[in-house]
Amino acid sequence: MAKIKTTFFCQNCGSQHAKWTGQCSTCNEWNTIVEEVVQKDEKRTWKQTTTEKSVSKPLKINEIERNPEERIVTYNKELDVVLGGGLVKGSVLLLGGEPGIGKSTLLLQIALSISQKVLYVSGEESQSQIKMRAERIQSSESNCLILTETNTQKIFKNIEEVRPEFLIIDSIQTLHTNSIEASPGSISQIRETTAELIKYAKETATPVLLIGHINKEGQIAGPKILEHMVDVVLQFEGDRNHAYRILRAQKNRFGSTSELGIYEMLSDGLREVSNPSEILISKKDNDLSGTAIASTLEGVRPLMIEIQALVSTAVYGTPQRSTTGYNLKRLHMILAVLEKRAGFKLGAKDVFLNVTGGISVDDPAIDLAVVASILSSNEDIAISPNVCFAAEVGLAGEIRPVSKIDQRILEAEKLGYKKFVTSKYNKITSKKHNIQLLLVGKVEEAFATLFA
Ligand code: TYD
Ligand code: MG
Repeated sequence: MAKIKTTFFCQNCGSQHAKWTGQCSTCNEWNTIVEEVVQKDEKRTWKQTTTEKSVSKPLKINEIERNPEERIVTYNKELDVVLGGGLVKGSVLLLGGEPGIGKSTLLLQIALSISQKVLYVSGEESQSQIKMRAERIQSSESNCLILTETNTQKIFKNIEEVRPEFLIIDSIQTLHTNSIEASPGSISQIRETTAELIKYAKETATPVLLIGHINKEGQIAGPKILEHMVDVVLQFEGDRNHAYRILRAQKNRFGSTSELGIYEMLSDGLREVSNPSEILISKKDNDLSGTAIASTLEGVRPLMIEIQALVSTAVYGTPQRSTTGYNLKRLHMILAVLEKRAGFKLGAKDVFLNVTGGISVDDPAIDLAVVASILSSNEDIAISPNVCFAAEVGLAGEIRPVSKIDQRILEAEKLGYKKFVTSKYNKITSKKHNIQLLLVGKVEEAFATLFA
């Protein structure tokens, strides 16, 4: 028997070290170095021999023939949009997300709905559990085979028999390969098994979808290299207490990363939400103070979201500030701007801010709606529900322009809003609008226009 060989890996960045140290010299994290058994048996991985025959030669860029990207359309519209028009053949996709968010459900749903032959490999659930899930999703006849296996060599053996056109692995952290002796889920196993799957994907032009766990910081568990190795990294996110789920591309070698897909988790699986604005805005009969509608842009898709604020006198000594779906530091900044530039005394008030639907938004264009909702709650004057906002607020209290303003105006108009409040510094190119534009330059002006 061969001598057992071990190496030290950093669990944070995946770098290799000759001996244990307290701090990783690559990423400077403390206490992340772990000893792992490594023993590579070159013969036993996916068709190791084929590479030796095909030695690639360097070519000039104009000598290279461009193969048209062949894409498999999944008929899951939101996923196709996020991917930029379907899955590219031979690409490897990694889907990350919190436990219970719906990763397995999403991929099983796709596996059951497409016409291609799919092999769904699960290392987490038994075949009958998957059957139960499939019954909930209520899909009809499909071309999907379910395998419960965690050893890559055995998986490849099955693949050679089945010859799937599509491979799904749930999840990469449960796999292990015979070629090294570390335990499943360890850095070296994740890296080796992913490398084998990538090799298989490239050589057979089969798309491979991997599910990845995330660690408590929200990163995909395992080495960062994993994200470098695959072609597409998708993140499935959302608040578990809410039904809405957002699919985002973090990396996409075949398309943009600005697209986004929205789903709703129902009792019979995930439903694609094609008109998100309608559901994100709570329908209410009478106007309540403290709410404002923001026009945001998620990817290239305009999205109307509702911002709710509650401003009340602080009962305890230190005023509380809390947000869901919005950056708390940004809220502090906005409150400081309102205090200093517009003279609102908010220093002794509790401020709670909420983006409805449990989604979180990074678009700075929602700043003005945040300001409007805070002032509306503070003054206890409701803002008419047919007004929407899109502008960034600067430190000097100035209302700043935002990107793709025409698109935002058009969407607001389409959804039946009557007034659109934005910065006067925007370059609005389209002239004719059925919506009234209110152009403001300063926070005070916005306040005067709204509550006049
Ligand atoms: P799952 O796909 O198992 O999550 P992950 O693989 O990301 O860990 O999703 C599990 C959750 O989704 C679970 O809490 C139940 C819920 N769910 C539904 O609400 N409707 C359904 O049709 C299914 C299949 C699951
Ligand atoms: Mg799962």
